[in-house]
Amino acid sequence: MVKQAIIPLAGLGTRMLPLTKALPKELWPLGSKSILEHILDECFSAGVKQVIFIISKNKNVIKKYFVKNKILEKAVKNKPEILKKLIYLNRISSKIKFVYQDKPKGLGHAVMCAKKHIKSKYFLLLLPDDIIKGKNCTKELITINKKKQSSVLALKKVSKKEVTRYGIAGFSNNKKFKINKMIEKPSIVNAPSRYAIIGRYLLSKSIFKFLSKQKSGKLGEIQITDAMNAMLLKESFYGCKFKGKYLDCGTMNGYIKSFIDINK
Ligand code: G1P
Repeated sequence: MVKQAIIPLAGLGTRMLPLTKALPKELWPLGSKSILEHILDECFSAGVKQVIFIISKNKNVIKKYFVKNKILEKAVKNKPEILKKLIYLNRISSKIKFVYQDKPKGLGHAVMCAKKHIKSKYFLLLLPDDIIKGKNCTKELITINKKKQSSVLALKKVSKKEVTRYGIAGFSNNKKFKINKMIEKPSIVNAPSRYAIIGRYLLSKSIFKFLSKQKSGKLGEIQITDAMNAMLLKESFYGCKFKGKYLDCGTMNGYIKSFIDINK
């Protein structure tokens, strides 16, 4: 069973500055709850028992969001709806482990920080920039993993000009979605397909071996896509064309559109 998930939260949020200077984007509202709570709901309803938050000292406010605050609970003791939400956050905090990443050295490096806490053969990685609405994508990945006993990545067909913004997968078997290549943010001519890796990964623990040898790639950072591409020679990866609707909270424009969409 896949019971643990990593959520990287140590990024600087530079795309949304200055708004992210004091309040991390993951705590921004999307409808009546934060972006991060949408991700947690997806994890817990897919059966995840422990979530590992990779944070930095600058983002300790994320921890604060979940810890019990007696003064606030007392202030809303006659407002049961609000009190319920505070108690819920505090209750789920028992399922969260906070791990610190000293410097933002890339997604691959963030995942490496959780290495010693991962117990089983497979674990999940969810990126909070990507919200998938309507159908639980994590559940879909788990179903494929059970069938194939391999790593699984959420994929979405994007337009030609969008391939430069994502990790892009190529296939040895188009029908079965067996992946044979991955390139992080390729140029349009180098893209092996138009299928983008969206932020839901179900990975075999062997990824740590490849990450530990991985040299810096795009933007001088340790890229998980590069490590997965190296791992492909030894272990199989399948794609999952997820059924839900993708909401891109990674840019200001995308966040505004997502906010409108979630309230529909
Ligand atoms: C990251 C990954 C990329 C993936 C994307 C999905 O990029 O490196 O492979 O396609 O998330 O949102 P980032 O958005 O952090 O630049």
